[in-house]
Amino acid sequence: MSRPKAVIIGMMGAGKTRVGREIAQILSLPFADADIDIEREVGMKIPAYFDKFGEPEFRKVESRLICEKLTSFDGIFSLGGGAPMTPATQEALAAYIADGGRVVYLMADPAEAMERANRGGGRPMLNGDANARWKKLFKERDPVFRQVANVHVHTRGLTPQGAAKKVIDMV
Ligand code: S3P
Repeated sequence: MSRPKAVIIGMMGAGKTRVGREIAQILSLPFADADIDIEREVGMKIPAYFDKFGEPEFRKVESRLICEKLTSFDGIFSLGGGAPMTPATQEALAAYIADGGRVVYLMADPAEAMERANRGGGRPMLNGDANARWKKLFKERDPVFRQVANVHVHTRGLTPQGAAKKVIDMV
């Protein structure tokens, strides 16, 4: 890694937090997770925040915190699945890449990621028919993720450690 700075993006259930933590541990770098930052900032869990204020408010907080952190944090930073869909965050990611950062699209096997996302629970974007919602979001988001990331890593069949090593080899 030419510079100790990477953002991890991908679908819900792709393993962004798990793999991001592994990468940080292997490289002895700090790790941050946008969802944890948001929960700390708003003082409640994400599903409760969605219930009370709705998705548009969540996206505002999410984008503000991510944009701030992208300019100040040198380490491994995992984003929530929907974060790269916000235009302000897309601009901040482009600036981050221009500044030498890596935006890594963690491309898990869709069936595995969907299953993991459903099993994990606590994801308001999957309320209702979780599989149908995951598939719809994947269709909308995959082309955007491919575009905003400058590193694409397929993780099918890999353990979190294996995926972390693959990312490290590719950044
Ligand atoms: C979301 C993904 C979640 C969290 C929120 C919204 C999304 O993060 O930010 O529930 O829109 O895909 P994970 O991708 O870590 O589950």
